[in-house]
Amino acid sequence: MQRTTAFSDDPSVVQRVLDHIDRRTTDLAESCWREPVENYRSEARFAAERALLRRHAVAFCPSAALPSPGSFVARDAGGTPILAVRGGDGRVRAFRNACRHRGSQLASGAGCQQAFTCRYHGWVYGLDGSLRHVPHEHGFPGLDKGTRGLVPVQTVEAQGLVFVTQEAPLRDARLDALPPLIGDGWRLANATEFEIDANWKILVEGFLEGYHIRSTHAHTFYPLQYDNLNVVERSGDHSRIVFPYRAIERQRDVEPSARSAGMLTYVYHLFPSAMLATFPGRIVMVVLEPLSIDRTRFVTYALTDRDPSDGDTQAAFERGVDLVDAGAAEDREVACAIQRSLGSGANEFFEFGLFEGAIGHFHRTLTAALDAAR
Ligand code: FES
Ligand SMILES: [Fe+2]
Repeated sequence: MQRTTAFSDDPSVVQRVLDHIDRRTTDLAESCWREPVENYRSEARFAAERALLRRHAVAFCPSAALPSPGSFVARDAGGTPILAVRGGDGRVRAFRNACRHRGSQLASGAGCQQAFTCRYHGWVYGLDGSLRHVPHEHGFPGLDKGTRGLVPVQTVEAQGLVFVTQEAPLRDARLDALPPLIGDGWRLANATEFEIDANWKILVEGFLEGYHIRSTHAHTFYPLQYDNLNVVERSGDHSRIVFPYRAIERQRDVEPSARSAGMLTYVYHLFPSAMLATFPGRIVMVVLEPLSIDRTRFVTYALTDRDPSDGDTQAAFERGVDLVDAGAAEDREVACAIQRSLGSGANEFFEFGLFEGAIGHFHRTLTAALDAAR
């Protein structure tokens, strides 16, 4: 099937970057965006956003987090506990993570097992969600096990990711707006999660512009990357922001059609709440789970295509990981600082300028989606 995507190919992106370097320019949005500060503080708005996460196809985890039959990831999405598992037939299915007896969760975290046994009274479910066994079943006269399997949510594997949607049909058009994101040959290197004292949208914003590279990342990204030099594109609800490394100058000697993305970091915003960032030998997927107006769970899946037994490659790779981690910590510090100011009364709105067009697209899309649901 032909997929439609508005994202340019690598040689075109490299050319646009080299042109920006020559002209000392960057991509500009058509207009600025003013986002009311109240939208970060309102409980009603927050509830509507979480409801949107349940209606929308949300990126849940990379396919590589579920490498074999029985691999599972259990995590909340939009406030709902979800269990995603790869079945014996190779298909990924996701369920509401709640036992059909009295609602205890079937699994937490991630792992690999061939059945899910509820720890409360021991009901057993198969990888396909079917209820397989009820201890002392005679205590439930008339129980129809065929109707008491785990409750599925719609699940699609696409572009190397697992998407789930809880309350509406998966709209394939949204997924078709994405190019292939994670190819075969990438495996999960590690997964982490922690909570941050910031509204989830402030954390999204931190990924979507390069205007802050010099100020925020003076000793991490700025020595390697340009300040405020980005290619910014959108495809449907999603965006891609290209962060070039200074070493991209070497691509001037390469025949234009053969230029590669090796000296670019692509940051994809997978609307509404996930990001994917590409680095040499590493892809980092971040999924944000809004917990309250001022607290967010920050889930990270790091993938690699490198051979861990190659010592030299591994050492260079680990230096890259340390750098990205240090830069990410700087972003989180800024996000928490913004969060603390929200109630200060200083700002009625935040103004996102012409360099921050992907953030304008995010808020415009979110506002339109919330309005459409009213
Ligand atoms: S709640 Fe799961 S077996 Fe009772
Ligand atoms: Fe940053």
